[in-house]
Amino acid sequence: MAASTIIAPSVLSADFSKLGDEVEAIVAAGADWIHLDVMDGHFVPNITFGPSVIKSIRNRTDKVFDCHLMIAPTDAYLAAFADAGCDIITVHAEAGPHLDRSLQAIKDLGKKAGVSLNPSTPENVIEYVLDRLDLVLLMSVNPGFGGQVFIGSVVEKIRKIKAMIGDRPIDIEMDGGITPETAPLVTAAGANVLVAGSAVFKDGNQEAYAGNIAAIRTAADNAA
Ligand code: DX5
Ligand code: ZN
Repeated sequence: MAASTIIAPSVLSADFSKLGDEVEAIVAAGADWIHLDVMDGHFVPNITFGPSVIKSIRNRTDKVFDCHLMIAPTDAYLAAFADAGCDIITVHAEAGPHLDRSLQAIKDLGKKAGVSLNPSTPENVIEYVLDRLDLVLLMSVNPGFGGQVFIGSVVEKIRKIKAMIGDRPIDIEMDGGITPETAPLVTAAGANVLVAGSAVFKDGNQEAYAGNIAAIRTAADNAA
């Protein structure tokens, strides 16, 4: 079947000293969405950037800004990320006790709402919020760092989530350790959006980015 996997490069692996230029380079290289990894040094053991940095690169492309919040708490900051120009705002199910409230707040801001699950989190935590979701982001590494090894047990979780979703228009996004080798495993199981950081930004120039994105896309689409 002719699939069209959405490729969302993570700027976590970009050169932060020229972040705007890197965004333009991955767009020219074929990126569909821009994945923005926000880390707070509390929910995850690393710190990246916040809404002001996102706002500063918003004028570099009109591609979807896919914002992955690895922060706790989340709710107090959602409006700032909406104002910064994020199109999809994804919160972690593990980041607070009131997932339903967080998803309602994102929708009230007029944004698409996503939920992310760590590798050890079972799929049933989203059972009663499915009708509020635009996206499920399944972590295939423990969040916090780029360049980690893909955790294969998540493939079974993709299948279970796909069955739970049924015919709802909800994207299934995979994040962590995605390469041309692992991409087919996840698209065959039902994922349709792939985040890739180190596998896109390796070799550091736009020509390489284009080849890296194409390799992931081809492998993903052929297995979907
Ligand atoms: C990890 C982040 C990922 C990361 C993926 O916490 O959420 O988006 O950038 O990096 P790679 O593709 O290198 O595993
Ligand atoms: Zn991410």
